[in-house]
Amino acid sequence: MKLPVLNSPYSQINNLLYKSYLPQIINSAVETGLFDALSGKSLSLRDLAQELNTDERITGALLRILVAIDFMKEQDGYYSLTVLSEEYLVSNSLVNQLEAVRMFAEGTSPFDGLKQALKGETKRFNSGMWVSENAVLAMEKSAKAGEIQAAVSFIKSMPDFYGAIKMCDFAGGTGHYSFAFLHENGNLHSHVYDLPEVCSLAKELKCREENFDRITYHDINGLGDCSLGNDYGVFFISRFLYECREEAVLRAFLKKVNGSMKKGGLFISSHIASCSKKECGLTIAMVELMTQARGYPVYKLSVNALKDALGETGFGEITILQPDESVAFPIQLLAAKKTKDAE
Ligand SMILES: C[S@@+](CC[C@H](N)C(=O)[O-])C[C@H]1O[C@@H](n2cnc3c(N)ncnc32)[C@H](O)[C@@H]1O
Repeated sequence: MKLPVLNSPYSQINNLLYKSYLPQIINSAVETGLFDALSGKSLSLRDLAQELNTDERITGALLRILVAIDFMKEQDGYYSLTVLSEEYLVSNSLVNQLEAVRMFAEGTSPFDGLKQALKGETKRFNSGMWVSENAVLAMEKSAKAGEIQAAVSFIKSMPDFYGAIKMCDFAGGTGHYSFAFLHENGNLHSHVYDLPEVCSLAKELKCREENFDRITYHDINGLGDCSLGNDYGVFFISRFLYECREEAVLRAFLKKVNGSMKKGGLFISSHIASCSKKECGLTIAMVELMTQARGYPVYKLSVNALKDALGETGFGEITILQPDESVAFPIQLLAAKKTKDAE
């Protein structure tokens, strides 16, 4: 038998394929209660299996994987959580990402239609994906895992923020960014615009949260829909400007934004940008392919196009904060001041 001479390591593919099973493995650990059982303490394999009522041998095999991916530590036969799993995989953590893990582990994949999309049979984007209780809460939890903190520290670095008494949070979901900003400026009132179903879920889910009375929710459907109000000292938009994929649409929207703001007011966008690290670059490339295949053509925002459009619609004094790549997505923050009325 003549054996082929190999020029590259197949392990590179094999390892990747095996890694793709990890969400299922992690989700099974979550559903068995493993992370909750180890929260704040360490247990031997025997005690853990007893507490979970699971098979000791299989539980041990699972633990070895969780140790290998740094979700678990083992010392002298005792297992405990790492900071990472304690923070994101324990159910009573405010930033648990259990819904994201479940979505990756179960059901259909967003790439199911990729073959058809490659043949040009792109689906029409279905905005219904935003409007369930699970979806709005998952969005909020994901933002709380670093993005809101970055936006708060950015906005606090702008002296004009403290003089603002009225803000707009466009496509703001449950208003999670607004709640964080209101906490920093006691005179501020926020107007959150989102799809009608999202606004009614938000009112239901947030009505007991501190400062709920300082938020007004407005039903809206799309960039062109209805008036945006007036006299905003801050106009905030997070992860929605991608809708303006054509420059003319972006300019028309920014003109409308300008008209809704006070002179000297702050426009702030938080959006996914490019990133330099290889692993994060791959995630972003996958998000881009996924959204395009689902009929949502652009995900990364061209910051130069945004800067040009802002310059043409009465904004100036642009400040940009480059992404902190420790958050789930490389979010760039951009602030611009309304310097004059748009022509
Ligand atoms: C990526 S999420 C961003 C949510 C929030 N701003 C954040 O950054 O966490 C997009 C938001 O846009 C809202 N949305 C989607 N289509 C919309 C439309 N046609 N009009 C208004 N809002 C819409 C969704 O309901 C969702 O809250």
